[in-house]
Amino acid sequence: MKDRSGKSVMDRRGFLGASLAGSLLGFPLKKLGKAPALVRRRPPVVAVSSRNGLKAVERAYEAMTQGKRPVDAAVHGVAVVEADPRDMSVGYGGLPNADGVVELDSCVMDGPTQLAGAVGALRGIMHPAQVALKVMRRTDHVLLVGEGALRFARMHGFKEENLLTERARKRWLRWREGLSRRDDWVEPGENDLGAPGDPETGKKGKEEVEPRPTGTIHLSALDAKGRLGACTTTSGLAFKIPGRVGDSPLIGCGLYVDNDIGSAGSTGRGEAVILSNGSSSVVEQMRQGKSPTDACLEVLKRIAHFTRIPRLLDAKGRPNFQVNFYAVNKKGEFGAAAFYPAKYAVCTEEGARILDQASLYKRR
Ligand code: GLY
Repeated sequence: MKDRSGKSVMDRRGFLGASLAGSLLGFPLKKLGKAPALVRRRPPVVAVSSRNGLKAVERAYEAMTQGKRPVDAAVHGVAVVEADPRDMSVGYGGLPNADGVVELDSCVMDGPTQLAGAVGALRGIMHPAQVALKVMRRTDHVLLVGEGALRFARMHGFKEENLLTERARKRWLRWREGLSRRDDWVEPGENDLGAPGDPETGKKGKEEVEPRPTGTIHLSALDAKGRLGACTTTSGLAFKIPGRVGDSPLIGCGLYVDNDIGSAGSTGRGEAVILSNGSSSVVEQMRQGKSPTDACLEVLKRIAHFTRIPRLLDAKGRPNFQVNFYAVNKKGEFGAAAFYPAKYAVCTEEGARILDQASLYKRR
């Protein structure tokens, strides 16, 4: 390794590796006549992801072992979820905005070049992560949104298609009909005499509307050359105001990579992650020496501290929403944490598996 002036230097890892090799062999280094060959342990290959990414981490891991760069491997991995109509939080089949239109957000970041690309509120393109990758590689920009992002995708040959599945349309319609008792939308049966909400009967009307998931997939990856890369892709908050973008296309929020330190990403309530600059905060915690899991927990504590508006708090004063962080450091240590118990996916040489995340609170 060379320093900036071109002189050969031994990096810290090399030095530690050499010291370790020496002491493992039982020889204090200074007593050896000849410097031992450097024992440089390659970092393990790791792909870590949200719970919905079991298949994705497997694909990303495999791609990295075949030499793909981690950022490309991450995009390759998440493509399987973007194309899966059963996952209603990402890509094709994702839940639409308030107008019933699917709008997708995504970003990618490449550790070695420290470059990133992102798209926000992109309509009609199944693989926004691939468009984000093009933004990174084929423009001098980081983030394209809306119509501009769509035109850019068309220019690069991405196919436009209807991403709204029948299942997602029906969920959207149920949400729309249950939105408010004061609007013009009426749920089946609500116009009947004696239906809940009828002042004549005194029965209480429905308070809860259709649940509004904030799914998403994040994938952070480390290869055997110590390169880091990451990708986050989502259809965002279900039934959002058209044009709303969450944390997922924002560098530092939905993900952040520092090739000297580690990579982190998030899923869950994007507004909370934006307000805490979540993923870059996780990387900063790792820079200060925290393990990936502890780094995630530290940022969750900060978000809990910042959450003060009563409508966002439960009866115990805790956030009434979920946020998850996932992280891997340069050494290949990985972890994840959330406010409330949840699971995440990882793939290492031991294979792909689902693990429990650490959580700030034991139960909801
Ligand atoms: N974390 C996904 C979103 O809030 O859009």
